[in-house]
Amino acid sequence: MNQNLIEEYQNVFQTNSVPRQFFAPGRINLIGEHIDYNGGHVFPAPISFGTYVVAEKRSDQKLRFFSMNFPETGIIECDLTNLNFNEEHHWANYPKGMIQYIIKSGHELNQGMNILYYGDIPNGAGLSSSASIEIVTGVLLEGLYDLEINPIEMIQLGQKVENDYIGVQTGIMDQFVIRMGKKNHAILLNCETLEYHYALLDLNDYNIIIINTNKRRDLSISNYNERRSQCEQALSDLQTELSIENLCQLTPDQFETYKHLIKDATNQKRAKHAVYENARTLEALKKLQKADLEGLGKLINLSHTSLQDDYEVTGLELDTIVSAAQSKEGVLGARMIGAGFGGCAIAIVKKDRIEAFKRNVNEIYYKTIGYDATFYTASIGEGAREITRECSK
Ligand code: GLA
Repeated sequence: MNQNLIEEYQNVFQTNSVPRQFFAPGRINLIGEHIDYNGGHVFPAPISFGTYVVAEKRSDQKLRFFSMNFPETGIIECDLTNLNFNEEHHWANYPKGMIQYIIKSGHELNQGMNILYYGDIPNGAGLSSSASIEIVTGVLLEGLYDLEINPIEMIQLGQKVENDYIGVQTGIMDQFVIRMGKKNHAILLNCETLEYHYALLDLNDYNIIIINTNKRRDLSISNYNERRSQCEQALSDLQTELSIENLCQLTPDQFETYKHLIKDATNQKRAKHAVYENARTLEALKKLQKADLEGLGKLINLSHTSLQDDYEVTGLELDTIVSAAQSKEGVLGARMIGAGFGGCAIAIVKKDRIEAFKRNVNEIYYKTIGYDATFYTASIGEGAREITRECSK
């Protein structure tokens, strides 16, 4: 692929020079869903699918973007001095936002760039293709312009692009794991303090299977923002008597004692999910460390139930695929991942059952939904980095 990317770059930008190459992964999340913005713990891992960029500086101030995933939009061009959001710039708003925020945070870019992007993360699948684009742009700038960008600063700038530039009130999980990810490890991240811990993802006879429902998450932005504001409302009700700064500071027992303070029944369900999901995530780390994979699988199943019933971010496609997956032999657990309303689920499946698993689950899915799901074996890759030298080896 990488040689192809260089040839494509030379073709698109009409040059013979050899650009530098960078990569940022997508991510899965074992457990800890919709709680990063509630100060909770999450347990994501980087995957080998991701976003590649090949790029070079230009001698002028122009930025010229091309994506092999959206060739129909052609080269999108803008100037370093005008990086404001522009609807017509389509996907290129993600890198533009990142470049703008990196400049605003005090880093100097004195020349423009030609940049070619290629992503093999299924688009709209909830595997964080947008955070992957933001972070790959961050490491590209760092490499090409010799900048020193603290990793946490880069992560926070990526989140700011989502929140302020694009307008989705996402948390910090995706950018964090994409920047900090380590091969074969998941990261237990405390989203309040940003303390983190790498946990070896040793699943023995089992693999993580990513199941794409092939239902795009297009309508999820307003629902996502709504969930976030429902949690904020629940928190402010609780704060009338409790001095807490976020929902995940409560244990499940404390929640049961004080839940009556949350006036709205729906908001109470949202808060319940956050509090219990946080407890499950902490428990999941212990299960993994004790190699109690069955215990881990049970927590994963409970997470889905909570996202389905209390947080209500699943939908027919995800519920169908997850319940089909959970019922199959050799499966320890399955649940939706990411923002929800479509996109992907994961299942922990015994290696020698994987082929039967895919066939049987898809059969049920197809009967109910009318189109196929897609299955991938997750391979837990590295975090974002320059790959110029890896590719020339
Ligand atoms: C999206 C957001 C994350 C997180 C998940 C749900 O992926 O980008 O910040 O909130 O949804 O856990």
